[in-house]
Amino acid sequence: MTIQDFIPPPYTKMIENASVSYQSPSNIALVKYWGKHGEQLPQNASISFTLSNCKSETTLDFEKKTKGGYDFKVYLDGHREKEFEPKIEKFFNRVAPYLPFINEYRFVIKTQNTFPHSSGIASSASGMSALAMCLVGLESQLNDPKNERLQNKQYQLQKASFLARLGSGSAARSINGPLVVWGAHPKIKGSSDLFGTTYPYKVHDNFSNYHDTILLVDKAEKQVSSTVGHDLMHNNPYAKQRFEKANSNLEQLISIFETGDLDSFIALVESEALQLHAMMMASSPYFILMKPNTLKIIDSIWGFRKATNSQVCFTLDAGANVHVLYPSSERQQVQQFIKNELSIFCKDGSYIDDFTGTGASTI
Ligand code: DP6
Repeated sequence: MTIQDFIPPPYTKMIENASVSYQSPSNIALVKYWGKHGEQLPQNASISFTLSNCKSETTLDFEKKTKGGYDFKVYLDGHREKEFEPKIEKFFNRVAPYLPFINEYRFVIKTQNTFPHSSGIASSASGMSALAMCLVGLESQLNDPKNERLQNKQYQLQKASFLARLGSGSAARSINGPLVVWGAHPKIKGSSDLFGTTYPYKVHDNFSNYHDTILLVDKAEKQVSSTVGHDLMHNNPYAKQRFEKANSNLEQLISIFETGDLDSFIALVESEALQLHAMMMASSPYFILMKPNTLKIIDSIWGFRKATNSQVCFTLDAGANVHVLYPSSERQQVQQFIKNELSIFCKDGSYIDDFTGTGASTI
């Protein structure tokens, strides 16, 4: 597939007004995307677990207008969010070549998240993927109903991931589930820099219904955005080695997923999280997004693992919150541990229980 495959032929239908609604979850990367080039293309392949509970629910109302610039309003939880509009405008600019209808409609985007707004959880993956699903849902009504390629569900999901990527790279991995690869990798069949693809090989039962409890350590807005962080990889002296390591880690995961080797999984996933943050510390200017409680949690997880032989581990995204990952067979024991020993390190004691899911769907 090339970008040309996402430019539609002239539409055969026109709709005056209607509404579409989709929900799309967040995801947590096991091998991280950190560094990009060109138009939202990753420097290395990444893989993530798609989540279930942390999601955005988005409704796109649209009505025909005479041509001109973009016309849209964004509402979050029922309130107009002018703050989001420059980001959406940038997104519309990027997707316009692939969605020629975009300046022929007036849009109202109404979105809400199932996780607290100020939780420090990145809502860009779920938010951008839900919006991309809505745009593809609308486009499918404008396309020739008899055109099998354009009406094919698989093609539409690929296009949604392609568009979501243009909004936020990690959003490309939220359309499908439970394991999604984004970024071309020689050992992963069908993988692409342009969109996310469901992990195509055998996955051991140890990984079914994997759990992720997100510990909310810091709910404040990050001091350094992901976009700025990615950009700093251009001058990072360790960038080349990091991109190579990410790709080799992803290759290593293939046999780990097949055999269900949780010890190797833990070692790889924790190392990925720490390498991501090491890249931040090695950037110029350098920065640290972890907080003292992030480290206290990591230390407690290591202590608990040693004492109990549990197969709990952690990963981090670009922030201070900690994702605690564990197999569903350890659910009771680990959730008790989180409640008793880790929640004290969370802001207001808050955390969110989640588990792997299958991606975006209509509401
Ligand atoms: C650390 O997808 O938020 O979560 O493409 O600039 O929107 P943009 O960045 P974003 O970066 C996510 C980085 C990460 C790792 C990951 O999800 O792979």
